[in-house]
Amino acid sequence: MSRYNELVATLPKSPRVWLITGVAGFIGSNLLETLLKLDQSVIGLDNFATGHQRNLDEVKGEVSADQWARFTLKVGDIRTLDDCRNACEGVDYVLHQAALGSVPRSLADPILTNASNIDGFLNMLVAARDARVKSFTYAASSSTYGDHPALPKVEDVIGKPLSPYAVTKYVNELYADVFYKSYGFNTIGLRYFNVFGKRQDPNGAYAAVIPKWTAAMILDESININGDGSTSRDFCFIENVVQANLLAATEEKSHALNNVYNVAVNARTSLEELFSMLKAMLADLGVNYAKEPVYKDFRAGDVLHSQASIEKIKNNLSYAPDYSVAEGLRVAMPWYLKNV
Ligand SMILES: NC(=O)c1ccc[n+]([C@@H]2O[C@H](COP(=O)([O-])OP(=O)(O)OC[C@H]3O[C@@H](n4cnc5c(N)ncnc54)[C@H](O)[C@@H]3O)[C@@H](O)[C@H]2O)c1
Repeated sequence: MSRYNELVATLPKSPRVWLITGVAGFIGSNLLETLLKLDQSVIGLDNFATGHQRNLDEVKGEVSADQWARFTLKVGDIRTLDDCRNACEGVDYVLHQAALGSVPRSLADPILTNASNIDGFLNMLVAARDARVKSFTYAASSSTYGDHPALPKVEDVIGKPLSPYAVTKYVNELYADVFYKSYGFNTIGLRYFNVFGKRQDPNGAYAAVIPKWTAAMILDESININGDGSTSRDFCFIENVVQANLLAATEEKSHALNNVYNVAVNARTSLEELFSMLKAMLADLGVNYAKEPVYKDFRAGDVLHSQASIEKIKNNLSYAPDYSVAEGLRVAMPWYLKNV
């Protein structure tokens, strides 16, 4: 039995208190759903900057009334230390997801991104340290690899950041490391690689490519490809990310702590391939998209190619991604068809 399967089997027998920051967002609400289904108690912190009440309502519909009763929402802002302290009270495991995502958003407003992603992160570290939580797992990012060309990406080999967003995520790692060295506070950073799945927002200027294109295909709108279509990513289905978070939070081996880990599947899909995959999968569901994509300039701040080595997380945290890109897309597409 895998460590994750064991964990899923044992957690309901020993319920813990989890804090999910950014709980109304895409990744946060998926973590919430899994943890409530495992009979855990969950505190959620969110200021609804990019998260939605509808995500929480949907989770409520997916769990039993008893499980939903174990969820406490605290509306608050990680830029306010008191909100972080209040949220951390009585918490065993912190899953810190709250941040402003998107490279273009950070280029448009670097000060706002800095405040949430760096000031907010530091507040959470201080609050969690002082509350003596058992573990602190945080959302890091593949953007930290910056301009380093090597593939696959190995955790210790990074380049210079290419955007304000990437700077903030790298600074998170630096602070986490210093909190261990200075205060003996343990953390694990998870460098997510282009996560996708249900409840990822398809709307707005800063939407990620998979929800944006899926919605455009369903609504028969035009699709832009930034660059020549060869740009590639290691797209990672949300269930793999949930697995990585639960494994990280409950990890106790000291050599595994105070590390950052890639969370991906070690595959590489180009934008052109992604376009064809989405089109074919939606066709199987009765959506026949006939438009050709429109090629635009490469986007500022974007990394050209991205693919993760997942050896470190496999070895240290026993991570074993259950879903390939295609398998994840097959699960996600019906949700978009129903909700777009
Ligand atoms: N989705 C990806 O592909 C991806 C890739 C790499 C890293 N990440 C990181 O994962 C985390 C979650 O991303 P997501 O895709 O779920 O994004 P999301 O925008 O759906 O969720 C982020 C949540 O954080 C909340 N939030 C933002 N600022 C806040 C603040 N100041 N105080 C309290 N709450 C605040 C938002 O309202 C939202 O609910 C982020 O830290 C992001 O940087 C995501």
